[in-house]
Amino acid sequence: MDCCVIGTGYVGLVTGACLAELGNHVIAADMDEQKIQSLSAGHIPIYEAELEAIVERNLKNGNLTFTTEVHEAVSESEFVFITVGTPSDAEGRADLTNVDNVARDIARALDGYTVIINKSTVPVGSTKRVQRIIEESMPQYHEFDVVSNPEFLREGTAVFDFMNPSRIVIGSDSQKAAMRMTELYHGLNAPLLVTDPVSAEMIKYASNVFLATKVSYTNAVANLCEAVGADIREVTLGMGYDERIGFEFLKAGPGFGGSCFPKDCRALLAIARENGYDFELLEGVLKVNLEQHEKMVEKVARAAEGLEGRRICALGVAFKANTDDIRESPAVYVIKRLVERGASVMVYDPQAIQNARVELPGATFASDPYEAAEGAVVLALLTEWDEFKWLDYERILGLMETPYVVDTRNCLDPAMLRKLGFTYEGVGR
Ligand SMILES: NC(=O)c1ccc[n+]([C@@H]2O[C@H](COP(=O)([O-])OP(=O)(O)OC[C@H]3O[C@@H](n4cnc5c(N)ncnc54)[C@H](O)[C@@H]3O)[C@@H](O)[C@H]2O)c1
Repeated sequence: MDCCVIGTGYVGLVTGACLAELGNHVIAADMDEQKIQSLSAGHIPIYEAELEAIVERNLKNGNLTFTTEVHEAVSESEFVFITVGTPSDAEGRADLTNVDNVARDIARALDGYTVIINKSTVPVGSTKRVQRIIEESMPQYHEFDVVSNPEFLREGTAVFDFMNPSRIVIGSDSQKAAMRMTELYHGLNAPLLVTDPVSAEMIKYASNVFLATKVSYTNAVANLCEAVGADIREVTLGMGYDERIGFEFLKAGPGFGGSCFPKDCRALLAIARENGYDFELLEGVLKVNLEQHEKMVEKVARAAEGLEGRRICALGVAFKANTDDIRESPAVYVIKRLVERGASVMVYDPQAIQNARVELPGATFASDPYEAAEGAVVLALLTEWDEFKWLDYERILGLMETPYVVDTRNCLDPAMLRKLGFTYEGVGR
């Protein structure tokens, strides 16, 4: 089938490449000329497992092309995916400027029946909003439907998630559009929920906010574990066996981050506010999260016995492992605060250094973890990259001024580190 995606970021690029891999003809459009040039040459501007090979293969076989010409992409497609960013505005609401602009671009390019699919995370009511903008901006009438199809992929495993979705949600008032969407996703084996657009939009926020709530709840319990002398790892293990609770998202750490959870929590809070509902629980989730970031700063400050002029080694800057994305990363927060308080922070990350250089002008960057550890009084592990578990800690011990590890991800082996001579501190244990 003929599809296009508008916006080739984490979601759009994965969606476009995977739809092409499934045998569709896909045009991926973006207004960022440099990005499109680089993608057309087969260079992927983000780090995402398996993606490069899929893009390369589908560029070669002609299933995937890249363009800056949204008009051409839309007019040649029956399915048009909107996958642009919806960042927070000053009040915490989702800023719909990109979505609105794309809706106007689509309206001008429509040429026959088209299903317009919103994959961006947007407030309740946005399907109707896009429909209205298109109706108002169409130079001449063409039949179209707007569908809400929220995306649940996770950065780091995005290709796998797209190909093996936990569920496919289609929010549509049009039976014709819902049927066409069902045909498009025919190759994917997943429960399919066809519902109204408002419920589909709400499913996305409610899901992300629920997961964020689990993280904040776990961190709150972890803080209590520290106070009473329990180990959060044991506690969550004992909780997770209960099928009603499950093991996922019960990891204590520096709090949630990334381009989705914080922004989607703020957006749902704004939706609640605008609809007269006092969502106190969600306010608590965000408060616990910010306090948790700050607690990590305090842990490092205590371990370093003050921060002014102290050398800190920061391992990890991505918001989680297996991605180069640093948007709202807890690691970025912690490093910024350490620098603000006078520490000299040397950062290493396997994939995110390039992004971090712009965001963290006050830090310095190492080309490997050993260089980052040299002369440090504290090693702060901030992102749970696998490679950090397997470092030569004996060598690191010899490089550091004082052998102190603050493991904000609880991913290292305290017994092994203590045996080597480190002082080890985790979260909630
Ligand atoms: N990143 C995730 O893990 C994830 C997961 C699920 C849902 N989402 C949602 O998907 C949406 C996109 O997220 P992302 O992380 O892929 O964003 P992103 O910032 O990585 O990419 C957005 C892309 O859209 C392009 N763009 C913006 N306006 C445009 C326009 N008018 N015309 C053409 N291109 C335009 C930008 O140049 C950019 O390349 C957001 O609403 C996000 O909340 C993201």
